Amino acid sequence: MTYTRIVGTGSFLPANVVTNDDLARRVDTSDEWIVTRTGIKQRHIADPEQTSSDLAVEASKAALAAAGVGADELDVIIVATSTPDFVFPSTACLVQARLGTKGCAAFDVQAVCSGFVYALVLADSLIRAGQAGSALVIGSEVFSRILDWNDRSTCVLFGDGAGAVVLRADSRPGILGSMLHADGSQAEILAVPGNVSGGSIIGSPFLRMDGQAVFKIAVKVLDEVARETVARCGLSLDDIDWLIPHQANVRILEATAKRLKLPRERLIVTVDRHANTSAASVPLALDLAVRDGRIRPGHRVMLQGVGGGFTWGAALVEM
Ligand code: UT7
Repeated sequence: MTYTRIVGTGSFLPANVVTNDDLARRVDTSDEWIVTRTGIKQRHIADPEQTSSDLAVEASKAALAAAGVGADELDVIIVATSTPDFVFPSTACLVQARLGTKGCAAFDVQAVCSGFVYALVLADSLIRAGQAGSALVIGSEVFSRILDWNDRSTCVLFGDGAGAVVLRADSRPGILGSMLHADGSQAEILAVPGNVSGGSIIGSPFLRMDGQAVFKIAVKVLDEVARETVARCGLSLDDIDWLIPHQANVRILEATAKRLKLPRERLIVTVDRHANTSAASVPLALDLAVRDGRIRPGHRVMLQGVGGGFTWGAALVEM
């Protein structure tokens, strides 16, 4: 039987840190409002010339080094992003070239803040089907490019960054089980409702969100999908060592842990430092907790995505 193991993690954050006080000088907001409502204290913002592929390449190099895997050993590269460098080619193809390799499959996945979990499940499926022996899965975003910096209800919530994992086929289970879902009837509660057509932007190039609607659905589906996933694995919620939900709002994270009866200490939180980095948030948080020694070999980690589409999903991983 072939399984998929995570053999290395990496991440990258742009150097420029923007605090809540910095934002309060630009829009009518305050550190107190942002911290109380979201838990966010700061975010990293890419320089104007830094793109998703730039961040992805740095995160990938760190993950490949941690795994001891060369780029030329990869069979597939998948990038989860809603802020690609171009309409096409895919960000994954740009990353492949920048890693100095060619020939392996490379494509992007668009599932917004669930993108990394979607991409991880796809890569796991390719490996278990014998289509790939190793894979690089990346979440990379420059959400700062699609924010209306005059809209205080959205611009304070997001940041830029990238996270990556290297996967390998193994005879021991790593990814124990997963579930993916979507509900397209909720498309308009979180969207960038625009496109490029005839040389112009049609619609809006900025993120729009019904925050309260997103909040309610997120708490409900993160609870449901964790239960579904452990059940698929023949395990219980007690078997989870670490919970890494998509990092959107500390209130959503804490509500999810509470509903799942997991102690706060088993929840990995990075939203305070990174804000919401969409598809990058889960692999960024995973890499941080692996590198600071909290997540260790043998630990079971529940990774959860939720976001635009509406999309959601989870994967239970034994490290
Ligand atoms: O990746 C997934 C995507 N996003 C999420 O998961 C986000 C989910 N939603 C949330 O996290 C929360 O709903 C928000 C943080 C977006 C908003 O928190 P809330 O407690 O639901 O606040 P609210 O939308 O009910 O707004 C309360 C008030 C409003 O003023 P009035 O109408 O009560 O006078 C807003 O205008 O807060 C005001 N407000 C702000 N005030 C200061 C909204 N944004 C700000 C701001 N600073 N940045």
